[in-house]
Amino acid sequence: MNEYIKYMDEFPSIPSDLIPTIEQITNSQYFGNHESVEKLRHPFAIKYYSTRKVNQSLKEWLLENFKFDFVAMFIIFNANMDPHKDLRNYTYNYIIDTGGDNIHTNVFSGEVGRKKVEKWHEVRGEASNNAASELTLLESVCLESMRWHYLRTDLNHSVTGDHVRPRVILSVIPVSAMMSNNKVATDWFIEHWQKDNW
Ligand SMILES: [Fe+2]
Repeated sequence: MNEYIKYMDEFPSIPSDLIPTIEQITNSQYFGNHESVEKLRHPFAIKYYSTRKVNQSLKEWLLENFKFDFVAMFIIFNANMDPHKDLRNYTYNYIIDTGGDNIHTNVFSGEVGRKKVEKWHEVRGEASNNAASELTLLESVCLESMRWHYLRTDLNHSVTGDHVRPRVILSVIPVSAMMSNNKVATDWFIEHWQKDNW
């Protein structure tokens, strides 16, 4: 554990009765209209993950317990993630289902040479237009479920391991972690989080 990935045991555990089952999460409404969030990143992202709305009782609990501005959503990963950077600089996650027994979250220094992708490039240009350099593993953790952790997402990070079922996490994204040069996406997230009612 270091500055890239760390448990946030100072955050309160979520009461288990507020956490929906995996089936309930899977069947929940998409956060936004499904594709809009994922397409902010790149057009093929939806093959890897999709987002779901947080249920009302959990939303209320989060609002009571976190005194900073944030947006929260469930994210369902269908596959391991190759090294990439997010539209957010960091996130607080609570894994509901790890997706397998020995799945690791990894953070790297260095850049992945990646073809320029419109939209994504506009937001985090340095991630898509840099020449490839060797990635250096900074940290690799098999994160526990039902425990808050912090993850740096402005550095390349990946998920590796034996993914045998969907990996389901609750993501609490502080507004301060959202990229300041990406006002359109930031405003979109906040607006949907605030106005969505159930
Ligand atoms: Fe990510």
